[in-house]
Amino acid sequence: MAKTFKKIGILTSGGDAPGMNAEIRAVVRKAKEYGIDVIGIDGGYKGLMDDKLIELDQRTVSNVIQKGGTMLHSIRCPEFASPEGMEKALDTLKKYGIEALVAIGGDGTFRGATDLSRHGIPTVGLTGTIDNDITATDYTVGFDTAMNSVINAVDQLRDTAESHQMCMIVEVMGRDCGEIALMSGIASGAAAVVIPEVPFDEAYAVQHLKELRASGKRNLLVIVSEGVKTADGTMYGEHLLGVLKANGVDARFVRLGHLVRGGNPTLRDRLTASRMGAMGVDLLVEGKSDLVVVELEGKLQPIEINYALVLDRMYKGKLKDGDLDAFIPEQIEKMKATCAAKKAEIEKLYRLSQDLSK
Ligand code: F6P
Repeated sequence: MAKTFKKIGILTSGGDAPGMNAEIRAVVRKAKEYGIDVIGIDGGYKGLMDDKLIELDQRTVSNVIQKGGTMLHSIRCPEFASPEGMEKALDTLKKYGIEALVAIGGDGTFRGATDLSRHGIPTVGLTGTIDNDITATDYTVGFDTAMNSVINAVDQLRDTAESHQMCMIVEVMGRDCGEIALMSGIASGAAAVVIPEVPFDEAYAVQHLKELRASGKRNLLVIVSEGVKTADGTMYGEHLLGVLKANGVDARFVRLGHLVRGGNPTLRDRLTASRMGAMGVDLLVEGKSDLVVVELEGKLQPIEINYALVLDRMYKGKLKDGDLDAFIPEQIEKMKATCAAKKAEIEKLYRLSQDLSK
Protein backbone atom coordinates (compact mmCIF):
# COMPACT_ATOMS: atom_id res chain seq x y z
CA MET A 1 0.00 0.00 0.00
CA ALA A 2 1.32 3.48 -0.89
CA LYS A 3 2.67 5.47 2.05
CA THR A 4 3.04 9.17 2.66
CA PHE A 5 6.11 10.28 4.52
CA LYS A 6 7.01 13.79 5.66
CA LYS A 7 10.60 12.98 6.48
CA ILE A 8 13.00 10.14 5.81
CA GLY A 9 16.62 9.64 6.85
CA ILE A 10 19.65 8.51 4.91
CA LEU A 11 23.03 7.21 6.05
CA THR A 12 26.18 5.64 4.68
CA SER A 13 27.90 2.98 6.74
CA GLY A 14 30.92 0.68 6.54
CA GLY A 15 33.77 1.47 4.14
CA ASP A 16 33.13 4.42 1.84
CA ALA A 17 32.75 3.70 -1.86
CA PRO A 18 32.80 5.89 -4.98
CA GLY A 19 29.20 6.46 -6.00
CA MET A 20 27.80 6.82 -2.49
CA ASN A 21 27.41 10.57 -3.05
CA ALA A 22 25.54 9.92 -6.29
CA GLU A 23 23.20 7.63 -4.32
CA ILE A 24 22.63 10.29 -1.63
CA ARG A 25 21.91 12.86 -4.34
CA ALA A 26 19.44 10.55 -6.09
CA VAL A 27 17.61 9.74 -2.86
CA VAL A 28 17.32 13.41 -1.88
CA ARG A 29 16.16 14.61 -5.29
CA LYS A 30 13.72 11.74 -5.81
CA ALA A 31 12.28 12.18 -2.30
CA LYS A 32 11.81 15.90 -2.93
CA GLU A 33 9.83 14.99 -6.05
CA TYR A 34 7.39 13.26 -3.70
CA GLY A 35 7.46 16.25 -1.32
CA ILE A 36 9.44 14.30 1.29
CA ASP A 37 12.17 15.96 3.36
CA VAL A 38 15.45 14.13 3.80
CA ILE A 39 17.67 14.19 6.86
CA GLY A 40 21.25 13.07 6.41
CA ILE A 41 22.75 11.14 9.30
CA ASP A 42 26.39 12.05 9.74
CA GLY A 43 28.63 9.06 10.48
CA GLY A 44 26.37 6.07 9.79
CA TYR A 45 24.68 4.21 12.66
CA LYS A 46 26.99 5.95 15.15
CA GLY A 47 25.61 9.29 13.98
CA LEU A 48 22.10 7.92 14.39
CA MET A 49 22.86 6.91 17.98
CA ASP A 50 24.54 10.25 18.71
CA ASP A 51 21.97 12.55 17.07
CA LYS A 52 24.29 13.88 14.34
CA LEU A 53 21.91 15.07 11.67
CA ILE A 54 22.15 17.33 8.64
CA GLU A 55 19.22 18.69 6.61
CA LEU A 56 19.59 17.84 2.94
CA ASP A 57 17.90 19.41 -0.06
CA GLN A 58 18.45 19.67 -3.79
CA ARG A 59 21.20 22.28 -3.33
CA THR A 60 23.13 20.53 -0.55
CA VAL A 61 23.52 17.58 -2.90
CA SER A 62 24.69 19.75 -5.81
CA ASN A 63 28.22 19.17 -7.01
CA VAL A 64 28.59 15.75 -5.40
CA ILE A 65 27.67 13.27 -8.16
CA GLN A 66 31.28 13.24 -9.37
CA LYS A 67 32.92 12.98 -5.95
CA GLY A 68 34.30 9.88 -4.26
CA GLY A 69 33.94 9.21 -0.53
CA THR A 70 30.73 10.01 1.26
CA MET A 71 29.51 13.51 2.15
CA LEU A 72 27.66 11.88 5.09
CA HIS A 73 30.86 10.29 6.38
CA SER A 74 31.04 6.77 7.70
CA ILE A 75 32.05 5.11 10.94
CA ARG A 76 32.07 1.35 11.54
CA CYS A 77 29.83 0.93 14.59
CA PRO A 78 29.63 -2.45 16.37
CA GLU A 79 27.70 -0.84 19.32
CA PHE A 80 24.69 -0.43 17.06
CA ALA A 81 24.15 -4.20 17.21
CA SER A 82 23.40 -3.97 20.98
CA PRO A 83 19.86 -3.38 22.37
CA GLU A 84 21.08 -0.08 23.91
CA GLY A 85 22.41 1.05 20.52
CA MET A 86 19.09 0.26 18.88
CA GLU A 87 17.21 2.12 21.60
CA LYS A 88 19.32 5.24 21.09
CA ALA A 89 18.81 5.08 17.32
CA LEU A 90 15.05 4.68 17.70
CA ASP A 91 14.98 7.65 20.11
CA THR A 92 16.77 9.83 17.55
CA LEU A 93 14.38 8.81 14.76
CA LYS A 94 11.38 9.53 16.97
CA LYS A 95 12.74 12.83 18.30
CA TYR A 96 13.26 14.23 14.79
CA GLY A 97 10.18 12.68 13.17
CA ILE A 98 12.21 10.52 10.79
CA GLU A 99 9.74 7.93 9.58
CA ALA A 100 11.86 5.73 7.29
CA LEU A 101 15.50 5.15 6.43
CA VAL A 102 17.70 4.52 3.40
CA ALA A 103 20.94 2.78 4.42
CA ILE A 104 23.86 2.65 1.99
CA GLY A 105 26.73 0.19 2.43
CA GLY A 106 27.44 -3.53 2.53
CA ASP A 107 26.23 -6.52 4.51
CA GLY A 108 26.89 -4.94 7.96
CA THR A 109 24.81 -1.93 6.90
CA PHE A 110 21.96 -4.16 5.78
CA ARG A 111 22.01 -6.07 9.07
CA GLY A 112 21.43 -2.74 10.83
CA ALA A 113 18.67 -1.83 8.39
CA THR A 114 16.78 -5.09 8.86
CA ASP A 115 17.01 -4.69 12.66
CA LEU A 116 15.48 -1.23 12.38
CA SER A 117 12.70 -2.54 10.18
CA ARG A 118 11.94 -5.20 12.80
CA HIS A 119 11.49 -2.29 15.20
CA GLY A 120 8.88 -0.73 12.92
CA ILE A 121 11.02 1.65 10.84
CA PRO A 122 10.57 1.15 7.09
CA THR A 123 14.05 0.66 5.62
CA VAL A 124 15.64 0.16 2.22
CA GLY A 125 19.28 -0.77 1.65
CA LEU A 126 21.40 0.38 -1.28
CA THR A 127 24.72 -1.22 -2.11
CA GLY A 128 27.88 0.80 -1.62
CA THR A 129 31.10 -1.19 -1.36
CA ILE A 130 34.07 -1.57 -3.64
CA ASP A 131 34.31 -5.28 -2.80
CA ASN A 132 31.33 -6.59 -4.86
CA ASP A 133 31.01 -9.16 -2.11
CA ILE A 134 27.23 -9.29 -1.76
CA THR A 135 26.12 -12.57 -3.28
CA ALA A 136 22.54 -11.46 -3.92
CA THR A 137 23.60 -8.81 -6.42
CA ASP A 138 25.74 -8.96 -9.52
CA TYR A 139 27.02 -5.49 -8.78
CA THR A 140 27.74 -3.16 -5.85
CA VAL A 141 28.19 0.58 -6.30
CA GLY A 142 31.90 1.44 -6.15
CA PHE A 143 33.19 -1.77 -7.73
CA ASP A 144 33.77 -0.38 -11.21
CA THR A 145 35.64 2.68 -9.98
CA ALA A 146 37.84 0.52 -7.76
CA MET A 147 38.68 -1.82 -10.64
CA ASN A 148 39.51 1.12 -12.87
CA SER A 149 41.78 2.53 -10.17
CA VAL A 150 43.56 -0.82 -10.00
CA ILE A 151 44.12 -1.08 -13.75
CA ASN A 152 45.39 2.50 -13.91
CA ALA A 153 47.89 1.80 -11.13
CA VAL A 154 48.94 -1.51 -12.69
CA ASP A 155 49.42 0.17 -16.11
CA GLN A 156 51.88 2.53 -14.44
CA LEU A 157 53.68 -0.28 -12.64
CA ARG A 158 53.92 -2.16 -15.93
CA ASP A 159 56.11 0.63 -17.36
CA THR A 160 58.74 -0.01 -14.72
CA ALA A 161 58.30 -3.78 -14.88
CA GLU A 162 58.87 -3.66 -18.65
CA SER A 163 61.84 -1.29 -18.43
CA HIS A 164 63.62 -3.22 -15.69
CA GLN A 165 62.46 -6.75 -16.51
CA MET A 166 60.75 -6.96 -13.16
CA CYS A 167 57.87 -8.81 -11.58
CA MET A 168 55.32 -6.61 -9.79
CA ILE A 169 53.19 -8.31 -7.17
CA VAL A 170 50.23 -6.01 -6.63
CA GLU A 171 47.96 -6.56 -3.63
CA VAL A 172 44.44 -5.20 -3.92
CA MET A 173 41.55 -4.79 -1.48
CA GLY A 174 38.34 -6.79 -1.55
CA ARG A 175 38.26 -8.26 1.95
CA ASP A 176 37.48 -12.00 1.49
CA CYS A 177 36.23 -11.52 -2.05
CA GLY A 178 38.65 -11.86 -4.96
CA GLU A 179 36.54 -10.12 -7.59
CA ILE A 180 38.48 -6.86 -7.72
CA ALA A 181 41.71 -8.86 -8.14
CA LEU A 182 40.26 -11.27 -10.69
CA MET A 183 38.55 -8.76 -12.98
CA SER A 184 41.33 -6.19 -12.83
CA GLY A 185 43.89 -8.97 -13.26
CA ILE A 186 42.27 -10.03 -16.53
CA ALA A 187 41.88 -6.42 -17.62
CA SER A 188 45.48 -5.51 -16.89
CA GLY A 189 46.93 -8.58 -18.57
CA ALA A 190 48.32 -10.15 -15.41
CA ALA A 191 50.58 -13.17 -15.66
CA ALA A 192 48.93 -14.60 -12.54
CA VAL A 193 46.01 -13.83 -10.26
CA VAL A 194 45.64 -14.99 -6.66
CA ILE A 195 42.14 -14.98 -5.11
CA PRO A 196 40.52 -16.64 -2.09
CA GLU A 197 37.85 -18.41 -4.16
CA VAL A 198 40.22 -20.63 -6.18
CA PRO A 199 43.17 -22.63 -4.75
CA PHE A 200 46.46 -21.18 -5.95
CA ASP A 201 49.07 -23.57 -7.30
CA GLU A 202 52.23 -21.81 -6.20
CA ALA A 203 54.70 -24.24 -7.78
CA TYR A 204 52.88 -24.06 -11.12
CA ALA A 205 52.76 -20.24 -10.94
CA VAL A 206 56.48 -19.89 -10.19
CA GLN A 207 57.31 -22.21 -13.07
CA HIS A 208 54.89 -20.29 -15.34
CA LEU A 209 56.51 -16.94 -14.47
CA LYS A 210 59.99 -18.34 -15.10
CA GLU A 211 58.91 -19.74 -18.46
CA LEU A 212 57.34 -16.43 -19.45
CA ARG A 213 60.58 -14.67 -18.57
CA ALA A 214 62.60 -17.27 -20.54
CA SER A 215 60.31 -16.73 -23.55
CA GLY A 216 61.25 -13.03 -23.58
CA LYS A 217 58.40 -11.49 -21.60
CA ARG A 218 59.87 -8.62 -19.64
CA ASN A 219 56.98 -7.40 -17.48
CA LEU A 220 55.42 -9.89 -15.11
CA LEU A 221 52.33 -8.71 -13.24
CA VAL A 222 50.78 -10.70 -10.42
CA ILE A 223 47.55 -9.42 -8.86
CA VAL A 224 46.88 -10.76 -5.38
CA SER A 225 43.70 -10.33 -3.39
CA GLU A 226 44.20 -9.20 0.21
CA GLY A 227 41.90 -12.06 1.20
CA VAL A 228 44.61 -14.66 0.57
CA LYS A 229 46.95 -15.41 3.46
CA THR A 230 49.38 -18.20 4.28
CA ALA A 231 48.70 -20.70 7.08
CA ASP A 232 50.59 -18.47 9.55
CA GLY A 233 48.57 -15.40 8.56
CA THR A 234 51.18 -13.71 6.33
CA MET A 235 49.64 -11.70 3.49
CA TYR A 236 50.09 -13.95 0.47
CA GLY A 237 51.59 -11.26 -1.76
CA GLU A 238 54.40 -10.67 0.74
CA HIS A 239 55.02 -14.40 1.00
CA LEU A 240 55.13 -14.73 -2.80
CA LEU A 241 57.74 -11.97 -2.99
CA GLY A 242 60.12 -14.13 -0.95
CA VAL A 243 59.35 -17.21 -3.04
CA LEU A 244 60.00 -15.42 -6.33
CA LYS A 245 63.22 -13.85 -5.10
CA ALA A 246 64.40 -17.28 -3.94
CA ASN A 247 63.69 -18.49 -7.48
CA GLY A 248 65.79 -15.78 -9.06
CA VAL A 249 62.91 -13.58 -10.24
CA ASP A 250 63.52 -9.88 -9.58
CA ALA A 251 60.26 -8.90 -7.89
CA ARG A 252 58.67 -6.01 -5.98
CA PHE A 253 55.59 -5.96 -3.77
CA VAL A 254 53.10 -3.09 -4.02
CA ARG A 255 50.05 -2.76 -1.76
CA LEU A 256 47.46 -0.49 -3.36
CA GLY A 257 45.36 -0.47 -0.17
CA HIS A 258 42.94 2.43 0.30
CA LEU A 259 44.13 4.14 -2.88
CA VAL A 260 41.50 2.21 -4.81
CA ARG A 261 38.65 3.11 -2.45
CA GLY A 262 38.69 6.78 -3.38
CA GLY A 263 38.45 8.74 -6.57
CA ASN A 264 35.75 10.09 -8.85
CA PRO A 265 33.12 7.45 -9.59
CA THR A 266 32.99 6.07 -13.12
CA LEU A 267 29.94 6.42 -15.34
CA ARG A 268 28.90 2.86 -14.36
CA ASP A 269 28.92 3.78 -10.68
CA ARG A 270 27.21 7.15 -11.08
CA LEU A 271 24.47 5.68 -13.24
CA THR A 272 23.84 2.61 -11.07
CA ALA A 273 23.90 4.79 -7.95
CA SER A 274 21.38 7.22 -9.46
CA ARG A 275 19.04 4.43 -10.51
CA MET A 276 19.34 2.55 -7.22
CA GLY A 277 18.81 5.71 -5.16
CA ALA A 278 15.63 6.62 -7.03
CA MET A 279 14.33 3.07 -6.77
CA GLY A 280 15.00 3.04 -3.01
CA VAL A 281 12.69 6.04 -2.54
CA ASP A 282 10.03 4.55 -4.85
CA LEU A 283 10.01 1.39 -2.76
CA LEU A 284 9.47 3.27 0.51
CA VAL A 285 6.68 5.31 -1.05
CA GLU A 286 5.09 2.08 -2.30
CA GLY A 287 4.90 1.04 1.36
CA LYS A 288 7.68 -1.54 1.11
CA SER A 289 10.39 -2.15 3.70
CA ASP A 290 13.27 -4.41 4.71
CA LEU A 291 14.53 -4.62 1.14
CA VAL A 292 17.81 -4.10 -0.64
CA VAL A 293 18.03 -2.94 -4.25
CA VAL A 294 20.14 -5.37 -6.26
CA GLU A 295 21.19 -5.69 -9.88
CA LEU A 296 20.58 -9.04 -11.54
CA GLU A 297 21.37 -9.60 -15.21
CA GLY A 298 21.42 -5.86 -15.77
CA LYS A 299 18.04 -5.17 -14.12
CA LEU A 300 17.50 -3.45 -10.79
CA GLN A 301 15.12 -5.14 -8.41
CA PRO A 302 14.36 -5.27 -4.69
CA ILE A 303 14.92 -8.39 -2.61
CA GLU A 304 14.38 -9.07 1.08
CA ILE A 305 17.37 -8.11 3.20
CA ASN A 306 17.24 -11.35 5.16
CA TYR A 307 17.28 -13.35 1.92
CA ALA A 308 20.37 -11.42 0.82
CA LEU A 309 22.15 -11.90 4.16
CA VAL A 310 21.42 -15.63 4.38
CA LEU A 311 22.34 -16.21 0.73
CA ASP A 312 25.60 -14.46 1.41
CA ARG A 313 26.34 -16.64 4.41
CA MET A 314 25.48 -19.73 2.36
CA TYR A 315 27.91 -18.70 -0.40
CA LYS A 316 30.64 -17.96 2.13
CA GLY A 317 30.03 -21.25 4.00
CA LYS A 318 28.99 -19.32 7.12
CA LEU A 319 25.35 -20.37 7.59
CA LYS A 320 24.18 -20.13 11.20
CA ASP A 321 21.78 -22.51 12.97
CA GLY A 322 18.22 -21.64 11.99
CA ASP A 323 19.26 -19.40 9.07
CA LEU A 324 17.22 -21.40 6.58
CA ASP A 325 14.12 -21.76 8.77
CA ALA A 326 12.50 -18.67 7.28
CA PHE A 327 12.58 -20.08 3.73
CA ILE A 328 10.52 -22.62 1.83
CA PRO A 329 12.33 -25.50 0.04
CA GLU A 330 12.01 -23.81 -3.38
CA GLN A 331 13.77 -20.70 -2.04
CA ILE A 332 16.54 -22.79 -0.51
CA GLU A 333 17.04 -24.62 -3.81
CA LYS A 334 17.17 -21.26 -5.60
CA MET A 335 19.79 -20.02 -3.12
CA LYS A 336 21.91 -23.13 -3.66
CA ALA A 337 21.65 -22.70 -7.43
CA THR A 338 22.68 -19.02 -7.15
CA CYS A 339 25.73 -19.97 -5.06
CA ALA A 340 26.72 -22.73 -7.49
CA ALA A 341 26.31 -20.43 -10.51
CA LYS A 342 28.38 -17.71 -8.88
CA LYS A 343 31.14 -20.14 -7.95
CA ALA A 344 31.16 -21.55 -11.49
CA GLU A 345 31.35 -18.05 -12.99
CA ILE A 346 34.34 -17.13 -10.81
CA GLU A 347 36.11 -20.37 -11.71
CA LYS A 348 35.44 -19.76 -15.40
CA LEU A 349 36.89 -16.26 -15.19
CA TYR A 350 39.87 -17.59 -13.26
CA ARG A 351 40.57 -20.11 -16.04
CA LEU A 352 40.27 -17.27 -18.54
CA SER A 353 42.85 -15.28 -16.59
CA GLN A 354 45.18 -18.28 -16.85
CA ASP A 355 44.50 -18.94 -20.55
CA LEU A 356 45.23 -15.32 -21.44
CA SER A 357 48.39 -15.16 -19.38
CA LYS A 358 50.48 -17.31 -21.71
O1 F6P B 1 34.96 -3.12 2.49
C1 F6P B 1 35.80 -2.19 1.88
C2 F6P B 1 37.22 -2.38 2.33
O2 F6P B 1 38.01 -1.40 1.71
C3 F6P B 1 37.80 -3.78 2.08
O3 F6P B 1 38.19 -3.96 0.75
C4 F6P B 1 38.95 -3.78 3.05
O4 F6P B 1 39.29 -5.10 3.43
C5 F6P B 1 38.40 -3.02 4.22
O5 F6P B 1 37.33 -2.22 3.71
C6 F6P B 1 39.40 -2.14 4.90
O6 F6P B 1 38.79 -1.59 6.01
P1 F6P B 1 39.38 -0.34 6.80
O7 F6P B 1 39.24 0.86 5.93
O8 F6P B 1 38.53 -0.28 8.01
O9 F6P B 1 40.81 -0.65 7.07
